[in-house]
Amino acid sequence: MGIKIVTIGGGSSYTPELVEGLIKRYDELPVRELWLVDIPAGEKKLNIVGALAKRMVEKAGVPMKIHLTLDRRAALPGADFVTTQIRVGLLEARIKDERIPLKYGVIGQETNGPGGLFKGLRTIPVILDICRDIEELCPDAWMINFTNPAGMVTEAVLRYSRVRKVVGLCNVPIGMKMGVAELLGVDQSRVHIDFAGLNHMVFGLNVYLDGKNITRTFLEQLTTRESGITMQNIIDLGWEKDFIKALGVLPCPYHRYYYQTEKMLKHEQEAAEKEGTRAEVVKKVEEELFELYQDPDLAIKPPQLEKRGGAYYSDAACSLIHSIYNDKRDIQPVNVQNNGAIASIPDESAVEVNCVITREGPVPLSVGDLPVPVRGLVQQIKSFERVAAEAAVTGDYHKALLAMTINPLVPSDTIAKQILDEMLEAHKEYLPQFFKAVS
Ligand code: G6P
Repeated sequence: MGIKIVTIGGGSSYTPELVEGLIKRYDELPVRELWLVDIPAGEKKLNIVGALAKRMVEKAGVPMKIHLTLDRRAALPGADFVTTQIRVGLLEARIKDERIPLKYGVIGQETNGPGGLFKGLRTIPVILDICRDIEELCPDAWMINFTNPAGMVTEAVLRYSRVRKVVGLCNVPIGMKMGVAELLGVDQSRVHIDFAGLNHMVFGLNVYLDGKNITRTFLEQLTTRESGITMQNIIDLGWEKDFIKALGVLPCPYHRYYYQTEKMLKHEQEAAEKEGTRAEVVKKVEEELFELYQDPDLAIKPPQLEKRGGAYYSDAACSLIHSIYNDKRDIQPVNVQNNGAIASIPDESAVEVNCVITREGPVPLSVGDLPVPVRGLVQQIKSFERVAAEAAVTGDYHKALLAMTINPLVPSDTIAKQILDEMLEAHKEYLPQFFKAVS
């Protein structure tokens, strides 16, 4: 019969990567229908991306039918997989997430600190609405979420919806593995990493080359600026050699915001003055991408998409869908319910950890306790994610203030309150749960 995939946020600039991934795997993953769904405000982008997707499929000669719609409920029935890649409030909201905290001397970032909190507050209610449609219209479908903040979103789906077949996905582990392979000058198939932690807070507990544990020697190589591992959206300012050696595990690029807060803040402040914040830069990249996508002769994913931090996201999604569909039982790092895999995190919470991918879904591999030096930070971020998710669902001001204040990137209760109040006002349009009319 073939597979039906529904992509919510189909007008995203990342969609051509998803289409490319599906075309590449068509023989083993016969997708009969790909439905790209968007909201009226995204219609123009949906039409541009949809037309490119159709050209790509036609050029590749695969019988995959692309449907475009603004009606999510019409798309969902019969779906085997629902992928979610939405940005509530678009890049304009991200610009505010990045700029407002900077005024208070606090990191302004898409998924960390106050910015991550507000992205969660805007996004979680919308994702839970999608969940309600999935529960009703395609209860057997797998929900594959790449919407950020992916850890907080997965946590919210697990706690506040009845969707159980949910997997959160990120390109950070894949990026780290590619970075390690590049540093070692080997093909990535020879590298294996034991990933464990949370989304954008994941550590490589062990690094292997051809099955041999090389963690210690590898960490020694990781300490010069030239050899750092990072993503397109995070500057590499170099690590303190002795710190990384002492840490004993491989940090992810986002750990720079926690272990190098001052340096990263200074860099963000300078960048905001000169070339603009990351969202402002990305806005230009998006404009260029959509220009390119409109070229009727373009029928492949353009290489310029790799300028985005989320490159390879969709590739990770296609591998995951492929392994679930074919019961491949390979190992992939994804966000799932912990179920005891990481002893330091509650069983019912979402974690990012290596899993065996089966037809019944990802089965997390047990890692026991996290090492003492990183355990506390991971637990603190998990508490932040839980309180933030509760604030998003309830619209409770005090919970939001609590989430903001316990975030390790926010220095005090007073600053937390000031940032919270300014950001609530700035994002009012997308936060109806905090502005209910008093009757
Ligand atoms: C990283 C993260 C993604 C995030 C992206 C932002 O790769 O893993 O979760 O979406 O960066 O990239 P951008 O190009 O939008 O700054």
